[in-house]
Amino acid sequence: MAEEIIIVQGNNVLTGDVVVSGAKNSALKLMAATLLGRGTTSLHNVPLISDIAIMSEVLRCLGAQVDRQDHTLVVDTAPVEKWETPYELVSKMRASIAVLGPLIGRFGQARVAMPGGCQIGARNIDMHLVGLEALGVMFVTDHGFLEATTPHGLVGAHVVLDFPSVGATENLLMAAVVAEGTTVIENAAREPEIVDLVNMLNAMGARITGGGSSLMEVEGVPSESMHPCEHTTVGDRIEAGTFLVGGALMGGPLTVHGIDPSYLRMAVMKLESMGCDVQTGADWITVRREGPLAPIDIQTLPHPGFPTDLQAQFMLLAARAEGTSAITENVFENRFMFAAELARMGADITIEDHHALVRGVDGLQGAPVSSTDLRAGAALVLAGISAEGETRVHNIGHVDRGYEDYVGKLCSLGAEVARATVDDVQPSC
Ligand code: UD1
Repeated sequence: MAEEIIIVQGNNVLTGDVVVSGAKNSALKLMAATLLGRGTTSLHNVPLISDIAIMSEVLRCLGAQVDRQDHTLVVDTAPVEKWETPYELVSKMRASIAVLGPLIGRFGQARVAMPGGCQIGARNIDMHLVGLEALGVMFVTDHGFLEATTPHGLVGAHVVLDFPSVGATENLLMAAVVAEGTTVIENAAREPEIVDLVNMLNAMGARITGGGSSLMEVEGVPSESMHPCEHTTVGDRIEAGTFLVGGALMGGPLTVHGIDPSYLRMAVMKLESMGCDVQTGADWITVRREGPLAPIDIQTLPHPGFPTDLQAQFMLLAARAEGTSAITENVFENRFMFAAELARMGADITIEDHHALVRGVDGLQGAPVSSTDLRAGAALVLAGISAEGETRVHNIGHVDRGYEDYVGKLCSLGAEVARATVDDVQPSC
């Protein structure tokens, strides 16, 4: 069978200007939130990536009409009369679970296929359920489906999350906005994508305060008073961070546009402590480096801590630093698969539980490698640009899930990167 791969020529350049797309992790939830508006919502700056196509299918499956005009999605949720999402879609994309809160908010019930684990960990949804139960939702599991009902309606409550889970905070918010009375969410996630969702929900008629802090208050409004709106998705801080790592790796200067630098404070600090010069403006960040890369200590944490979604990219930088770096993954239990692929290119990495010791090497060699998740896939392409010789990155469906025209954007920065269709090579024994 033919397979599409990315072929990367090494020892290349990466310099110039690139505009980041809208944030995947925001747009997916904004799309789910349209269910609460009963009418036509226009979402701008929506990235052209496969995860968005899957979420469009989820909404269509519920009865919505979803039309794309370039980077604007026009979603009419007036015709939605179903509250069930099938296994086929949820199994393709875990984030489909984001419709749970809005469906409960709109219909008082939902039937959603249980998301399984994924390669980066078990990814439970217990906190989503505990939080929603506090609002009066009752759950039963039925042959792989989660059935939610609200026998006494949705009622505001004080919820303390065990961990500032992004998904749990979002699902809770999207149900709480139409609950009777006030909901308080303590230990809420503070990611910029949460703030984006809060802004959109408020534009739809919700009354949420404290977005971006760990304590949010939601004064419930009647479900019928929620209305459609027009909203622009925030820029993708992880895409921006990925390109900045590319600039730091190759020396730059490289400027990313379309991103609020405050979203990337921790990553920028780490780039600076690795020896990079970073300049920022209202919606741009420039990185350049002349000296060697210094080793670094990184611990992934919920925002505003260092993002787990930039862990692989920084592991690549650490692999080229002069000295030994320590990287600790605190958010997902199994997010070091990338290390084994990078080791195939010559990196020297030891994994001990959720710690990685990365001893910098003088250079990487091009090799056939495989994307283990979307961020790892993007990082492997960058590794190929810095390596000696040719790198072939397989399993690129992961990259397409989250990066719009990654290859085109890298080429515009001077890299020699191309997609190619190759026949599966059968091993000769
Ligand atoms: C979102 C992002 C993902 C990012 C992550 C952390 C999307 C589509 N994905 O994922 O890119 O890496 O935030 O910033 O927005 N957990 C539980 N029980 C729960 C919920 C979460 O144990 O009920 C655990 C998860 O298994 C994981 C950790 O908490 O280990 C963080 O999960 P969470 O913040 O919920 O991440 P996601 O929303 O899944």
